[in-house]
Amino acid sequence: MNQALSGVRILDMTHVQAGPTATQLMAWMGADVIKLEPPVGDATRGQLRDVPNADSLYFTMLNCNKRSIVVNMKNATGKEVFVALLKKCDIVMENFGPGVLDRFGFTWEKIREINPRIIMGSIKGFGSSGPYSNFKAYENVAQAMGGAMSTTGVPEGPPFVTGAQIGDSGTGLHLVIGLLAALQQRHTSGKGQYVEVAMMDAVMNLCRVKFRDHQRLSRGPLAEYSVGTHQGMGAVPRAGNDSGGGQLGNAIRCKPGGPNDFIYIVVQEVVWKALGERIGRELGLPDLVDDPRFATIAERRHHQNDMWELIGELALKYTKREFMEILNELDVPCGPIMSTEDLANDEHVKLRNMYVELDHPQRGTWHNVGMPIKLSDSPAVIKRSPTLGEHTDEVLREVLGITDGEIARMREAGAFSKDAPKKVSA
Ligand SMILES: CC(C)(COP(=O)(O)OP(=O)(O)OC[C@H]1O[C@@H](n2cnc3c(N)ncnc32)[C@H](O)[C@@H]1OP(=O)(O)O)[C@@H](O)C(=O)NCCC(=O)NCCS
Repeated sequence: MNQALSGVRILDMTHVQAGPTATQLMAWMGADVIKLEPPVGDATRGQLRDVPNADSLYFTMLNCNKRSIVVNMKNATGKEVFVALLKKCDIVMENFGPGVLDRFGFTWEKIREINPRIIMGSIKGFGSSGPYSNFKAYENVAQAMGGAMSTTGVPEGPPFVTGAQIGDSGTGLHLVIGLLAALQQRHTSGKGQYVEVAMMDAVMNLCRVKFRDHQRLSRGPLAEYSVGTHQGMGAVPRAGNDSGGGQLGNAIRCKPGGPNDFIYIVVQEVVWKALGERIGRELGLPDLVDDPRFATIAERRHHQNDMWELIGELALKYTKREFMEILNELDVPCGPIMSTEDLANDEHVKLRNMYVELDHPQRGTWHNVGMPIKLSDSPAVIKRSPTLGEHTDEVLREVLGITDGEIARMREAGAFSKDAPKKVSA
């Protein structure tokens, strides 16, 4: 099938999550992604293992639709294979710690010299310039340093990380956008370029509205926040489940009161009348809509904690699904807090191919989260992740045109293993 990125070949040196999430998306859009792994494989193959001797879900869920080749980048023949692949690829991607690629002897300048059309995608914790550039980073380090943690949680509690992997997967998404732009620019320039995304920068980008509020604090309190704010406060406070936008929102507990029996409700200005009437009717408060505390959005902001209390009283009579139906009828934007169990069994999720069943030679049946970007002319066909080095010979033959005899010579020289195979003396 001809897909959006058919004909684009990616040399994927990425590991762990931030890079692989990007290359998986590009593979789902049709790119030929050749995952170049060290002889021990991407570390995630063995991390958080749930099935003995099988690639972990950590690996399989981030590496679908790719081909895996093993190349020892510390071996001279391995480096020759790498150079040959660079000449045949449109994009090379990496998210090593600072300096790793340079230590292999392949700076961007060198890579560009080898193939002037190649685009290089690079993820670093903090980018290649600035005082933090020499440091490694993982997801939560990026959340800590990009502004997400200081603004997540409640003021009296510690900062919290979010379950969504905004530091890793969020950065991967940013990189994909940059690479697609670079591919487009290559049509006119004929040249590749270096595309870099720092995890800290990506998290800051995703926290943009918090920097809106940071600047507003110099002019006065933030009326929509349910927690106290004041002019000159400096840093934006953690504000629990506040909406973060112009409309008021909150997570409200429902029946029967379990850990995920909550519904998120946005009391959009236009829906207050209908919602207020409903609350008033059920709670025996017929004048609620005209209550001066809630008459205007400004008043509702001011008295929002009273409003949440009343909505909460009503919500406790219903399950989150029942309450969702009631609110949907009133056109109130809302969503039950969905657990992973809820989502894994949700009809809507199933229909949109967002939780797909796959097979794997080592682990049998498993599920991956599906492709969230739906291209009408390029639907994703999701295929299992490769086993370590599954396609080494195939890629060498098909992409590089290397003969079986030559492959054997390279193998002997240690290009595809940690150490060169020992010669058995006669
Ligand atoms: C994620 C991270 C912290 C992991 O750190 P790490 O496990 O020490 O891994 P590094 O990337 O620093 O180093 C990888 C090592 O594997 C080696 N290696 C990688 N591919 C190889 C190959 N094909 N052949 C031989 N060696 C290889 C490298 O040479 C390096 O060893 P060295 O330090 O002796 O040079 C680090 O890679 C990082 O900060 N990456 C950028 C930010 C990022 O993407 N973080 C999110 C990850 S989800």
